[in-house]
Amino acid sequence: MNLLFLEALHNRNFKRPPVWLMRQAGRHLKSYREMRDRYSFLEMCHHPHLIAEVTLLPFPTYNPDAAILFSDILVIPEAMGLGLRFEEKIGPILENPLSPSSDLSRLPPASASEALQYVAEGIRLVRPSLSVPLIGFCGAPFTLASYMIEGQSNRHFTKTKLWMYEHPASFHQLLDLLAQWAISYLLQQIEAGVDAIQIFDSWAHVLPEKQFLEFSLAYTEKILKGIAHTTVPSIVFCRGSSLFAPLIAQISPHAISVDWSASLPKVRSLLPRSIAIQGNFDPDLLLASPDIIRKEALPLLQQMKNDPGYIVNLGHGLLPNTPETSIRAFIDLVKEFSP
Ligand code: CP3
Repeated sequence: MNLLFLEALHNRNFKRPPVWLMRQAGRHLKSYREMRDRYSFLEMCHHPHLIAEVTLLPFPTYNPDAAILFSDILVIPEAMGLGLRFEEKIGPILENPLSPSSDLSRLPPASASEALQYVAEGIRLVRPSLSVPLIGFCGAPFTLASYMIEGQSNRHFTKTKLWMYEHPASFHQLLDLLAQWAISYLLQQIEAGVDAIQIFDSWAHVLPEKQFLEFSLAYTEKILKGIAHTTVPSIVFCRGSSLFAPLIAQISPHAISVDWSASLPKVRSLLPRSIAIQGNFDPDLLLASPDIIRKEALPLLQQMKNDPGYIVNLGHGLLPNTPETSIRAFIDLVKEFSP
């Protein structure tokens, strides 16, 4: 088993840094597009043998140092009965969005997350085929709530933020329920064999600091506390982490995944040494040719080379139109880097 990723999560990697990429199993891969010719995205998310197969797709081509479970953060709202579908060019759509007049007490309790056992089954199927650690994940309550309220990806989040400002008590009630679901879902993933977990708070950057603390970070903290007894290492990713990283450090995840806006060494200097740091290349850089990627990426690898808690990743997910050759060149560059 290649343990570089887990060693770095524990701040004790003295070899080259490990590398994996958010959305490494996605449309940039020819093998993924071929799977998608046969199955819809949701079919692939729902069937354990397809979850296992897609999780493995990046390996022959890119061979990263960690695998991430193939699934989606929106399987929780789907299991809660909000009706999920994906539409070309639009993305996810929740058919029964919530509003401040919804009766939240009618949403299913966290015990209903047993319905997500098909994900655990996918983990059990894929784990024996991997020689690298497997990362499980969930969406953070604030980001899940945004989808459940807006009904689809939307850059403004007006409905979500109005609910938050005008009806904070019921907004807290929703976030609390989502945190309970996330805990129960992550515990299922951990029991099934994931080696680390990542919490995705993709929309946290729309919040001012005060609301970030109260409506986003407090619930990510609740999730971390709910799984702490397992000792499985945790990574917190949010867009906005360039700015919020020192606040995220206060809830003590094992690692913080940083978006691409900030200088990573600068963010590192603001964090306790006990916390590992992941990131933070611009996903658009990988659209460039291998020569440019090398020229841009090497300086950061050099700057971070004595950091035993550094994990190479992007500041957000790989873009669907990224050439496989560029992704491969980037990963090889990290793998050939000797500190
Ligand atoms: O990283 C991985 O390779 C693991 C799998 C993974 C997916 N989604 C697969 C996916 C993970 C970890 C996610 C998380 C996720 N899903 C997030 C948080 C991370 C982030 O990107 O901010 C969010 C916000 C979602 C919701 C979601 N799912 C959106 C907005 C979209 C549409 C955007 C797009 O890229 O089309 C998806 C679809 C999705 N999730 C795809 C994949 C591979 C593409 C679906 C397809 O095949 O058409």
